[in-house]
Amino acid sequence: MKTLVGFLLLTAMTFAQKTEVYSLKNKTGMEAKVTNYGGVLMSLTAPDKQGKFADVLLGFDKPEEFATVDNPYFGALVGRYGNRIGKAQFTLDGKVYKLAANNNGNSLHGGPKGFSKVYWTGKQLTPNSVEMKYTSKDMEEGYPGELAVTVVYTLTDSNELKIDYTAKTTKTTVVNLTNHAYFNLGGPGSTDILGHMLKINADKFTPVDKGLIPTGELKPVKGTPFDFTTSTAVGARIDAKDEQIALGGGYDHNFVLNKGASPAVEVYEPKSGRLMTVTTTEPGVQFYTGNFLNGTITGKGGKKIGKRAALCLETQHFPDSPNKPSFPTTTLKPGETYRTTTVYKFSAK
Ligand code: GAL
Repeated sequence: MKTLVGFLLLTAMTFAQKTEVYSLKNKTGMEAKVTNYGGVLMSLTAPDKQGKFADVLLGFDKPEEFATVDNPYFGALVGRYGNRIGKAQFTLDGKVYKLAANNNGNSLHGGPKGFSKVYWTGKQLTPNSVEMKYTSKDMEEGYPGELAVTVVYTLTDSNELKIDYTAKTTKTTVVNLTNHAYFNLGGPGSTDILGHMLKINADKFTPVDKGLIPTGELKPVKGTPFDFTTSTAVGARIDAKDEQIALGGGYDHNFVLNKGASPAVEVYEPKSGRLMTVTTTEPGVQFYTGNFLNGTITGKGGKKIGKRAALCLETQHFPDSPNKPSFPTTTLKPGETYRTTTVYKFSAK
């Protein structure tokens, strides 16, 4: 028994990895912090209309707090497949791959560990950029192929946070990487995002079933609470009598970005004057209004994080694409390079 405990302790110590925090700064005064645990973007400051900088991300003060079980992916790098895969399985080249069902019988965000509960290898590239690398083993979380992933966070002097994702596989697999930052442009004093003005350059969205799996339909947003083609307050229709709103408990849906849409999304917070635009090479964005947050998590500054305290704009391929041949493909083959870029740009007016 003693030897077993000793062996386990030694193993744990050998494999215990160090939590590191990398700081990024640009020339205008923006700052970001990234930890190698989950590749998490811990904080990001942006100026308001008076030029005052504040952290616009929800999460925790200390990197190790991101390892708590009820962390809803604050700022995390999500993979190998961000968002949901229905019935936690998919077929690739005629072979069925079974994943762990970690969300009402479905797979969410790459599985119980995914890429957000593992240590990445960090490397500061320049004072304003950091690289995160992670190699996911063949069949890790049920996915075929060893996947070598590199994500670079860069804070540009044009007040942009740029995230570049690349990946290569040894066997045909599926990949859908994103970042799960929770934004509140009002800064730490702001309690919810209902007054944020949102514009999404999307004429269609992917309606879901009760497990939040897309039905496969691309539904026009026109005449629905999902029409954000003109800037509208997030809270204006969030509790509308609408089947899709009811299923999501608010917004928790993938929007089909119009081709060439640039920016894809604009968010404006009237009190602070902060404006964030999102541009991406991805075909979709999951707009999630923090409907599952319920005040049980104590976040930065010891503050409880309440329902709809923040919003997420997870740029991505559509949920459940491996089971939806009509959706843009998420298949990656050996010899190919997965490459996507998303830019969050900040200004104030
Ligand atoms: C979002 C997802 C939500 C919820 C959240 C984590 O990406 O769309 O349904 O699972 O992550 O709490």
